[in-house]
Amino acid sequence: DKGGWSSFMAKEVSEQPDAVANTLRGRIVDGVVVIPELAEFGDEALARIRRIVIIACGTAAYAGQVAKYAIEKWAKVPVDVELSHEFRYRDPVIENDTLVVSISQSGETMDTLMAVKYAREAGAVAISICNTQGATIPRESNAVIYTHAGPEVAVASTKAFVAQIAALYLFALHLARVRGTLGSAELLEHTAELQAIPEKIATTLLQGDAVRQLATWMTDSRAVLFLGRHVGFPIALEGALKLKELAYIHAEGFAAGELKHGPIALIEPGQPVFVVVPSPRGSAHLHPKVVSNIQEIRARGARVIVIAEQGDAAVLPFADTVIHIPLAAPLFEPLLAVVPLQLFAMELATAKGLDVDQPRNLAKSVTVE
Ligand code: F6R
Repeated sequence: DKGGWSSFMAKEVSEQPDAVANTLRGRIVDGVVVIPELAEFGDEALARIRRIVIIACGTAAYAGQVAKYAIEKWAKVPVDVELSHEFRYRDPVIENDTLVVSISQSGETMDTLMAVKYAREAGAVAISICNTQGATIPRESNAVIYTHAGPEVAVASTKAFVAQIAALYLFALHLARVRGTLGSAELLEHTAELQAIPEKIATTLLQGDAVRQLATWMTDSRAVLFLGRHVGFPIALEGALKLKELAYIHAEGFAAGELKHGPIALIEPGQPVFVVVPSPRGSAHLHPKVVSNIQEIRARGARVIVIAEQGDAAVLPFADTVIHIPLAAPLFEPLLAVVPLQLFAMELATAKGLDVDQPRNLAKSVTVE
C-alpha cells in the first residue's frame, strides 16, 4: 500500500526520519549506546579487534564507506570496505582478530552471503547489519544488528540506506566505548547528534519542491557528475547510482580531490555537476578546497548544483542552484545530503515517465551471483 504516495519510493523516502528513529529506538539508554545483540561477544573480545572488514554491494556498500570514517575516527580500528563479490574471490587475508561486518537490506544478496560464509570458514567473526528479520545472512552470522527501516518495496534503496548508517554509527559508538577511545562527554555528544538526525532529515525533505524544479529542466541531460569529499564522497557515489538506476542517465561520482587527476577533462559548457559541500564550520579545512573545486568547474562552464549547509554563503556566488541541508556535525552530514540526491533521481525519472519503483533490468533482491 502506497499510503497515498505516487510510488513506493516516494513513500519510503518520506519515511526516512522514522527509519532512523526506529533503528535507534531502545538502543540508547540515558544518552549511552547499548547494543544487547553484541553482548554475547563480551566487551573484551570487541576491544581486541584489530581490523574490521565491511562487505556489501551497491547502496549498502556506500553505507559502509560512510561508516568507515566514523568507525576509524571514534573507535580507532582500521576499516576496509569491500564489495562482497571482489572480497570473496581474491584470497583476502582474514585473521582471527578480524571482524567482518556485512550490510544487506534484504539479507539474501548471494554475493554478500557467500562472502560471509567464506569469512567465517576462514575464522572471522561476522556481524550482520540487516533489515529483514530472519533472513539468510543474519542466520549465517555470529550476531545481527537489525535496522528497523520497515519493509522496503521500491527497488532503489533509500530508507534502508539511512537506517544502515544509523545502525553502523551505533555500532561505532558502542565500539568506541568498550575500547575506551572516546571519553564520556564525546560519546554523549555524538549520540545526541545521532538522535537529532530524524528531525533534520524531516527538514531536508522540505527541499522536495526545489529538487523537483531542478529535475524538470534536466530531463534531457546525457550525463551528470557528482563530486564529494570525505564522507561526501560515498554520497556522491550514491547520488550517481540512484540516477543511473532510476533515470537511466549516465552518472558518475568522484572524490572532489580527484578532479585535477582526470575527471575535470569531462567538464564542458552546460555539464551538470552536483557538489556535496562539507560544512564551513565543522570542516573548516576541507570546505575551501571544495569551494575551489566548484570555482574550477564553473570557470569551464559547468552547471553547478550545490548541496550545502544552511547559511554557507561562500558557495552562493558560484552555484547555479543551492539546496540547503540543516546544520550537523561533519560525520552526520551524509544522512542529510543523500536526501536531495534520492529525490532528484526520483523526480527526474518521474519527469521522464519512468517507473521509479521497478526500474528496468533490476531486481529488489539479487539472489544469484
Ligand atoms: C541500489 C540498490 C542496490 C542494493 C544492493 C544490495 O538502490 O538497491 O544497489 O543496495 O543490491 O542489496 P542488499 O542491501 O539487499 O544486500
